[in-house]
Amino acid sequence: MYIVVGVTGGIAAYKTVQLVRLLVKDGHEVHVIPTDDALRFVGLTTWEAISRHPVTTSVHDDVATVRHVALGQAADLVIVAPATANSLAEMAAGLAGDLLGTTLLATTAPVVVAPAMHTEMWRHPSTVANIRTLRERGVHVVGPDDGPLTGGDSGPGRMSEPEVIAAAALALTRPRDLAGLRVVVSAGGTREPLDPVRYLGNRSSGRQGVAVAVAAADRGAEVVLVAAHTDDGVMAEASAHPGVEVRRAGTAAELGDAVRAAAVGADVVIMAAAVADYRAADVAEHKRRKEDAGGTAITIELVETEDILARLVRERADGQTIVGFAAETATDASELRDRGIRKRRRKGVDLLVANAVGWDRGFESSANAVLVIDAHDEVVAETDGTKREVADAVWDAVRTARG
Ligand code: CTP
Repeated sequence: MYIVVGVTGGIAAYKTVQLVRLLVKDGHEVHVIPTDDALRFVGLTTWEAISRHPVTTSVHDDVATVRHVALGQAADLVIVAPATANSLAEMAAGLAGDLLGTTLLATTAPVVVAPAMHTEMWRHPSTVANIRTLRERGVHVVGPDDGPLTGGDSGPGRMSEPEVIAAAALALTRPRDLAGLRVVVSAGGTREPLDPVRYLGNRSSGRQGVAVAVAAADRGAEVVLVAAHTDDGVMAEASAHPGVEVRRAGTAAELGDAVRAAAVGADVVIMAAAVADYRAADVAEHKRRKEDAGGTAITIELVETEDILARLVRERADGQTIVGFAAETATDASELRDRGIRKRRRKGVDLLVANAVGWDRGFESSANAVLVIDAHDEVVAETDGTKREVADAVWDAVRTARG
C-alpha cells in the first residue's frame, strides 16, 4: 500500500520513526512529509533512511512531478502523527501552506490523525471544535492517550503508541468481509508446571495465532484471543486492536476452560495454540532439589492433557466452524499433506492448517509455509509468506467453507 505519513512539530515525532518503521516492515511504500517545525525534532536524514524515500517539506521541490498534489493523489492512506493543535487547526481550516497541507487537500484516501499536545491545549474549545469538524469530514482520530507529558504534567495528550496507530490506520483500508462474525482464536504455547519454578513448555512464539486474531479483527470480526505464553512484543498489535479481546491462559487446562467459555455463541473457533499433550501427574509443592535425588536420575510421570480441539468438535453448536493447526516435522510437501489429512480426519475439524516445523523452521520467524486441508481432504490453500499472509489465507478458506 502507498502510505503518506505527515509529521508535525511535536516531541512525539520521535515515536513516529517507529511508526514508519513498522509500516515499512509490513511491506508498505511509505512517504514521509514533515513540516519545517517537525524537522526541529527529528531530522530529514532519519526520515529518508527509515522510509527509504526522498523527503521534502516544500511545495517548491520536485515541481516537475507536481509533487504538491501527486503524493496525496497516489496515497491509499494518510496518517498525521503527531498532529499538533496547530496542525489540526490548519487541517480544519483547509490551509495548504506547505507540502503536507496541499497533500491533505489533494487526497481522497482515508486520513488518520494521532493528536499530541498538552492537556490544556487538547481541551481548549478551539481544538475541541477542530476535532469535531475533522471527524464530521470523516477523519479518524486515534488517541490521545492519558499519561505523563513532556513538561512533567500528566493527562490526556500523549500520542498513542506506534503499534496502536498502525493497527487503527491499516484496519481502515481492509475489506471487512468477516463483519458480523464472532470468532475465538487460541495462540502461544502452554506451560505445564513441574514445581513452583519449572515447567514443560514448547517453542511456540504465538506469532501465527496472534496474526490470525488480528487479521480477523482487521476484516471486521469480533475476536476473543485466548493467549498462552507468547514471545516478547508478539501481543502488542492484538492488545492495541479495538476488535480483539485478549484473555490469558497458562496451562492446557486453563486454555481449555477459557476457549470453551469463549466458544459459546461463536461462529468460528481456531485452535492455533501449541497445547501441551502431557502434563506432570503430580506437581511438586516445593522446588525439586538435586540434593533430594542424591545423584541418581529422576523420573517425572506425565499424563495426557485433555484434547481441547476434540472436545470442541464433540460439543460444537450448529453452524460453528472449527479449525485446527498441526505443526508437523515432515520431510516434503506430500508427507505434510498426508499427515495433515490423517490429522484432520482424526480431529474431525472443518479445516486443518498444516505447517512444517523443525529445528530451524516454523517457530521464531515471521514467515510460515502452510497447507490448508478441508473436510473433503482437499488442499484448498497452499501459502508461503508472512504470518499475516498465512492468516488471511486461513480466513479466506474459512469463508469458503462456511459458504
Ligand atoms: N490441541 C488441543 N488440545 C491438546 C493438544 C492439541 O486442542 N491437548 C490442538 C492444537 O491446538 C492444534 C491441534 O490440536 O490445533 C493439533 O495439535 P497437535 O499437537 O498437532 O495434535 P495431537 O493430537 O497432539 O497429535 P500428535 O501429537 O499425534 O501429532
